[in-house]
Amino acid sequence: MRKKIVAGNWKMNLDYNEGISLFSEIVNMVNDEITGSQTAVVCSPFIHLYSIAQLAKGYSKIGIGAQNCHQAESGAYTGETSAKQVKSTGADYVILGHSERRQYFGENNELLAAKTDTALKNGLTPIFCIGETLDEREGNQHFDVIKTQLQEGVFHLSAEDFGKLVVAYEPVWAIGTGKTATSEQAQEIHAFIRKEIADKYNQQVADDTTILYGGSCNPKNAPELFAQADIDGGLIGGASLKSRDFLDIVKVFN
Ligand code: G3P
Repeated sequence: MRKKIVAGNWKMNLDYNEGISLFSEIVNMVNDEITGSQTAVVCSPFIHLYSIAQLAKGYSKIGIGAQNCHQAESGAYTGETSAKQVKSTGADYVILGHSERRQYFGENNELLAAKTDTALKNGLTPIFCIGETLDEREGNQHFDVIKTQLQEGVFHLSAEDFGKLVVAYEPVWAIGTGKTATSEQAQEIHAFIRKEIADKYNQQVADDTTILYGGSCNPKNAPELFAQADIDGGLIGGASLKSRDFLDIVKVFN
């Protein structure tokens, strides 16, 4: 049975105190309001990780994640943060391959494959993001783009290691634009991703993989999106910066 997960991606928002205060609210609300078996994951900037992991101790329905890590184990990479360092803060997840990393920092599938290996080696669960741009969708290339991102980014993994991943489908044209994929569009791609996983590994691995939807997800549209057969939760940007909105999205699975 695959896990239901709603992950917040704070991106480069919130100073230290703002992050601690938002996270404290989230912990209390998750504790008071979440009755299902879903997990709420918060992916914060590096500066918050250790402190929020401390605040989350003892709360089994909350997970902590980073938004990136370096592909090398350690060394002279000024300004970078390793997977081992992320793990040592108490975090268990790391977002990899977010379209903003691909677009602004030139991260390609080959680099992301290396980051995935290092993250897994250090006991982190990658939330591996894939998704097409508007041009690619309009050019009817979205299935090919997603297939290539999977093949080059994560299909080198053994079935056992692949089983440790969470996949997130984020159509780039829906990120921060207020324009959500319709539930039919999202379901179509999620089903396609699951079929690709089944073809590469087997049906069991595919059925066990958590696939999240991301892109202008909010408390209003989440119920319909999360009701789709192959959508197992969300990766939430803007709405994860408001505790009430984030919790209302997590509560869709109550
Ligand atoms: O990773 C989450 C994301 O990119 C979606 O952002 O603000 O459209 O929910 P947003």
